[in-house]
Amino acid sequence: MAGKGFTVKKNWDNPIEHAMPEGVRVPAEMRIGPVLVAPATVLAPMAGVTDTVFRRFIRHASVFSTSEAVNPPNSILSEVSGARPGLPGTNQEIAAVEADVTNTQSGCGLLMTEFTSADGLSRMRESKRRRYLTFYDDEHPIGAQLFGSNAETLAEAARIVQDTGFDTVDLNLGCPAKRVVGCNGGSGLLRDLPKIGEIFRTVRKAVTIPFTVKFRLGWNDAQIICTELARMAESEGLNAVALHARTREQGYSGQARWEWIAAVKAAVQIPVIGNGDVRTPEDAAAMVAKTRCDGVMIGRAAAANPWIFRQIAQYTATGAYDQPSFTDRHHMIRAYFEMLLAEAEATRALPRDARIGETSGKMKQFATWFTHGVPGGARLRKAIYTARTGAAVLDEVNAFFAGQPLAQDEVIAPVAFPESELVCD
Ligand SMILES: Cc1cc2nc3c(=O)[nH]c(=O)nc-3n(C[C@H](O)[C@H](O)[C@H](O)COP(=O)(O)O)c2cc1C
Repeated sequence: MAGKGFTVKKNWDNPIEHAMPEGVRVPAEMRIGPVLVAPATVLAPMAGVTDTVFRRFIRHASVFSTSEAVNPPNSILSEVSGARPGLPGTNQEIAAVEADVTNTQSGCGLLMTEFTSADGLSRMRESKRRRYLTFYDDEHPIGAQLFGSNAETLAEAARIVQDTGFDTVDLNLGCPAKRVVGCNGGSGLLRDLPKIGEIFRTVRKAVTIPFTVKFRLGWNDAQIICTELARMAESEGLNAVALHARTREQGYSGQARWEWIAAVKAAVQIPVIGNGDVRTPEDAAAMVAKTRCDGVMIGRAAAANPWIFRQIAQYTATGAYDQPSFTDRHHMIRAYFEMLLAEAEATRALPRDARIGETSGKMKQFATWFTHGVPGGARLRKAIYTARTGAAVLDEVNAFFAGQPLAQDEVIAPVAFPESELVCD
């Protein structure tokens, strides 16, 4: 789904190191309509990344419970890798783990799908729809994101999303990809507020689940419309807004301008979710301190440090948070890869367009993000790139971690999201 042809800045530009603000925390919960989002953190939609496997990985990697001291048993991460309902290997223990992972214990309060074309969805074969809209019970609450420019088509797609059982439906008004903007979708619509109003009204009438919108500041600095857009969303009955605080023209360059999140928050009563450049728990709390936003949405940092949601939840609950140890990192990467392989196996018999595909490609991509900053990570990345199958990638990962001279508990510093294909928003 990721659109080609838009060159974006692929890393954070001179990221600001925020100190943990005194006495301010990411809220323990927020409500989007009747949907409880607890903690008030959201996994940002990311095309090519936030499929069902990544989302479940984030939810489970993020498990945090105050009743269980600070560390979830590492076994959770390996057990959950086989925890897809109905998969061979599922056992009582895994089922118990799943049942235990309630929304309030997970560090990530709301998961979002990758963006999906409303046009495509209403025309797609059932099998292909399944690929884009597959989710499992343990992903609730979960929102599906749509893009498009035709109000009726978006309304039809929103109905499909509702009938599929999603908790919320989201409209993408941020994608800068030329392919999307060229059809007036994504951020292309930011130049046409009346059209956005028509879409809001039509989709709102079509569904009863909470309806949200994710948008950028505007097309460019001369046309910043985020506060008008948020007010319109509120008056048309949308239940929350999420702002990636950059213009379309900015792509990913420069800093996200959090002052606009504060302006949007001051303009509306519905929940405002801040997005852009949150890389650490300190950043998340600083965003809340500076903007008073109701929730924080995290994209790139989730791939580089899947524990970020857990760290934020832990900080909110206790005032301190853990860094993943080397062993935790091994468990995480292994869990994610095992989940990818299990999903590929489980969907092997489905038509090609319904499979959650590109397993070894995804493993390579994730390993690249995840092992930046890990001592010897370059060696692992090189070995992984020559591996031909998903199983071979996993073998390389296991061999790398097993052969590390580091002490089990040695803490690895948080990593930055490295250069890679960032094509959409
Ligand atoms: C690989 C990638 C794919 C993305 N795909 C989407 C998308 O499908 N829908 C969307 O609204 N934003 C998308 N985005 C933008 C993110 O949701 C988020 O707004 C942006 O990355 C800024 O947040 P961050 O600084 O926490 O990464 C994507 C970003 C990346 C890096």
